[in-house]
Amino acid sequence: MTVFKPAGLLVCAALFAGVAKAETEVKLGYALADTSHYGAGARAWQEAVEAATGGAYAFRSFPSSGLGGEREVIEGLQLGTVEATIVSSGTLANFVPETGVFDIPFLFRDFDHARSVLDGPIGQEILAKFEDAGLVALAWGEQGFRHITNNRTAIAAPADLKGLKIRTMENPVHITAFQTLGAAPTPMAWPEVIGALEQGTIDGQENPLSVITSAHLSEVQTHLTLSGHVYSPAVLLVSKPFWDGLSPEDQDAFRKGAVAGAKAMRAFVDDVEQSGVDTLKAEGMQIGTLTPEQRAAFREALAPAYEGYARQYGEDLIRRISDSQ
Ligand code: PAF
Repeated sequence: MTVFKPAGLLVCAALFAGVAKAETEVKLGYALADTSHYGAGARAWQEAVEAATGGAYAFRSFPSSGLGGEREVIEGLQLGTVEATIVSSGTLANFVPETGVFDIPFLFRDFDHARSVLDGPIGQEILAKFEDAGLVALAWGEQGFRHITNNRTAIAAPADLKGLKIRTMENPVHITAFQTLGAAPTPMAWPEVIGALEQGTIDGQENPLSVITSAHLSEVQTHLTLSGHVYSPAVLLVSKPFWDGLSPEDQDAFRKGAVAGAKAMRAFVDDVEQSGVDTLKAEGMQIGTLTPEQRAAFREALAPAYEGYARQYGEDLIRRISDSQ
């Protein structure tokens, strides 16, 4: 009997160790459905971490703002009550002011330009700034270029925005841009947006095709203007208290997993860029695209805002971004 006891204890200890390891929970919150680009990013991140750590971390996803709006989730990371998130740049500039430079309208020419800046030295320098806010930023994901939807009118010129009650993210760069264009920007957390559109307290909102399709905005909006007025990055973040408790090997697994998550988000966005307009047309939206001349008119109307952005972020940095290939 005594011979079996230690062995039994060893087996029990091994089992408990296994359970305890697998029970390191990672709560991962994000704003949209699990069928969205956020869901694709979250799944790829989870799968990569699970594969690299032999299932040592149990991810628990909270899609569709299940842990609150993006601001609350980021605050949860700072407090250490939430381990991970994928968020837009919506409220980020309130935590890490340097991120706001990427929110400048018409800064990026196209997807290749945006991705190469974010993956290159400038994007990586800005990821490093998150530590000052008690956050660890592991990779730049993506939503796409933002477009305007509304229930009032087709938009072809800045004058068409006059007085338009447009929901913006709680993002000072975006708010300034829409104010400068003559609209009536209404900053609002995402979880309130669909209700506000249904009730008519706002006329419109702006988001990339990835969001417009996955949040079914065609059910509450009639017009879509493919303005591509600003690139919308996302970022894969973990809480610093959580990060500091990880071994270097596990930190590496989370970082590589986040890069895989970002890649999956970009692949999803690439697909929606191909199919999204047809989907939304079939769902009944009236869709127009700004011509290059019309986009130039928007840029011209934004001149006073650009002066403010240059003061805030520095002409040099803005030029480095816009000149980069
Ligand atoms: O518009 C926003 O707030 C963001 O783009 C969204 C939809 C929450 C996705 O991060």
